Amino acid sequence: MPLLRSLRNLGKRPIHQDWPGLIEAYRAWLPVSSSTPVISLREGGTPLIPAPSIAAQIGRGVRVFLKYDGLNPTGSFKDRGMTMAISKAKEAGSEAVICASTGNTSAAAAAYARRGGMRAFVLIPDGYVAQGKLAQALLYGAEVIAIKGNFDRALAIVQDVANQYPITLVNSVNPYRLQGQKTAAFEVVDALGDAPDWLCIPVGNAGNITAYWMGFGEYRQAGRSRKLPRMMGFQAAGSAPLVLGQTVEQPDTIATAIRIGNPVNKDNALRVEAESNGGFMAVTDSEIIAAYKLLGNHEGVFCEPASAASVAGLLKRKDEVPSNATVVCVLTGNGLKDPSTAIENNDARFHTGLDADTATVAKVMGF
Ligand code: F0G
Repeated sequence: MPLLRSLRNLGKRPIHQDWPGLIEAYRAWLPVSSSTPVISLREGGTPLIPAPSIAAQIGRGVRVFLKYDGLNPTGSFKDRGMTMAISKAKEAGSEAVICASTGNTSAAAAAYARRGGMRAFVLIPDGYVAQGKLAQALLYGAEVIAIKGNFDRALAIVQDVANQYPITLVNSVNPYRLQGQKTAAFEVVDALGDAPDWLCIPVGNAGNITAYWMGFGEYRQAGRSRKLPRMMGFQAAGSAPLVLGQTVEQPDTIATAIRIGNPVNKDNALRVEAESNGGFMAVTDSEIIAAYKLLGNHEGVFCEPASAASVAGLLKRKDEVPSNATVVCVLTGNGLKDPSTAIENNDARFHTGLDADTATVAKVMGF
């Protein structure tokens, strides 16, 4: 058919369906009313990307998908929770918000709070926040307070401050955060037509695993899925309190986003593990980096190191995946958040300092 005629045959129906943001998309499932001022950057609606190279490493008919939440407006899944938390803070008349963060929460809090006309205070562990995240918090106009202490200490301080002063806490102890984040599970079921058999997810403060489980449960209850997934949580080996069963005083990992020794949602995480017949496991930094490189090199997906923990964990447990199962790995943040880790950890051939002539270029290309 000639191109012009086929274009005319498409009629007036738009090809691109605009995404209204997760509060509008899932309004009936969220604690908002017509008087809630919706502060949105059109977050959510992220793709579920097939991962054939990872699936091939498992074999036996297993299908693997990546829930790429690094494509949210500030580059991480935190936007899902923040659109809710900030909209509800605005509804309640709050003029300022505060959070502790390993970086992504601070970027999201800053963007949404400023968009809503509020001040944003963020406490971060000095020297342990990836460069892109710090750049975001500063550019979005947060008031950044870097402390000589880790995330767990920062969280204790912001909880104190929020108890004593008129300011809204937007860490995942804020219940609206998890309400927003549960929509990622809705999207996974909407895309697959059912829940996956396994959900693999990085775990730090354990808010996201709690939120996903809530979302899967609500959809199952409403008859939108026939099953519930096993929730497989992965922590970095140097910061694995849920695997060790105790607080880690000095958490350490290359995956700074999940460098957390005392998860505030610990009890929820243990409940999710029990209810879903799931499991927590530690992955080493070198396993995380191997998965990070595999995702980039073979799937064309650039995530941050913490996110790659979900794939590292799946590969570690691959023999336990049932044949023909559907697995979703959550990629929580965008690789651009942490450029220095990518520059220091890759298998690329990077030829530098060469003379600017065709012969030299052709030679290094192998011609
Ligand atoms: N992945 C990324 C990229 C994160 O930024 C975080 C948490 C997690 C996974 C873990 O999620 O805490 O719900 O279990 N980042 C927080 C922050 C702590 O401050 O940005 P969780």
